[in-house]
Amino acid sequence: MTTFLEQLDKNRIPTSVAIIMDGNGRWAKKQGKNRVFGHQTGVESVDHVMEAAAGIGIKYLTLYAFSTENWNRPINEVNALMDLFVTAINSYLEKMLSHNIRMVIVGDIDRLSEKTRNNMQMAIDKTAGCTGMTLVLAISYSSRWEIVRAVKNIAAEVKDGKLNLDDIDDACFSNYLATKGIPDPDLLIRTSGELRISNFLMWQLSYSELYFTDVCWPEFREEQLYEAILDYQNRERRFGKTSEQLTK
Ligand code: FPP
Repeated sequence: MTTFLEQLDKNRIPTSVAIIMDGNGRWAKKQGKNRVFGHQTGVESVDHVMEAAAGIGIKYLTLYAFSTENWNRPINEVNALMDLFVTAINSYLEKMLSHNIRMVIVGDIDRLSEKTRNNMQMAIDKTAGCTGMTLVLAISYSSRWEIVRAVKNIAAEVKDGKLNLDDIDDACFSNYLATKGIPDPDLLIRTSGELRISNFLMWQLSYSELYFTDVCWPEFREEQLYEAILDYQNRERRFGKTSEQLTK
């Protein structure tokens, strides 16, 4: 039997993949464990998926780790997640360096404690010279936060005469987003069977292919990533054009 990896067209690997890592809590409950156990196992999935993504040549992997709305979860869970992010990032560091993976963070990080921020910054600095895949962690992130911030910054620059109204277009607007310089996702994956975007990359997902799987994040590993990419490779991306125009 050929594996999903063997079936992949190595010349059509998506450049940019984003994942909504969902279902940690429900998966843990099903095992009779607490929610944090689900997040801990989810950390292992990140480890596997990051390495697999870099291995097949994905250039940007964006993971939704914590939304601005997640701040409203019970304080115990929020604190456990923040601690987990720091220990997880530290545990990935060696692998990131050996696999040439640069780590960046997008989100409203001013809401993180100084200690958490400093710990994360250390990994960002250490991997800054890596030129293979970029791992983008969306932490304290939401699209509405990002878009409102962009609008405010644009308005301020127009008011100060630094930006002309006529120069504002799609490309210009993208440069005011937290994801500046990161290509829009070719593929968005959401785990755990939920069919929502949940305030994630709403501008950037305009033409992304969407892939939903019932597998919960703690069980999403290499094989599930390859399966999603194989599904993506069977899609026709028309970007508003007709099928005939694409084959000309
Ligand atoms: C959603 O599942 C998951 C989260 C809010 C946290 C995701 C974080 C990790 C997997 C840790 C990864 C670590 C790094 C450093 C990226 P949920 O709790 O909403 O699940 P539920 O819908 O079943 O309740």
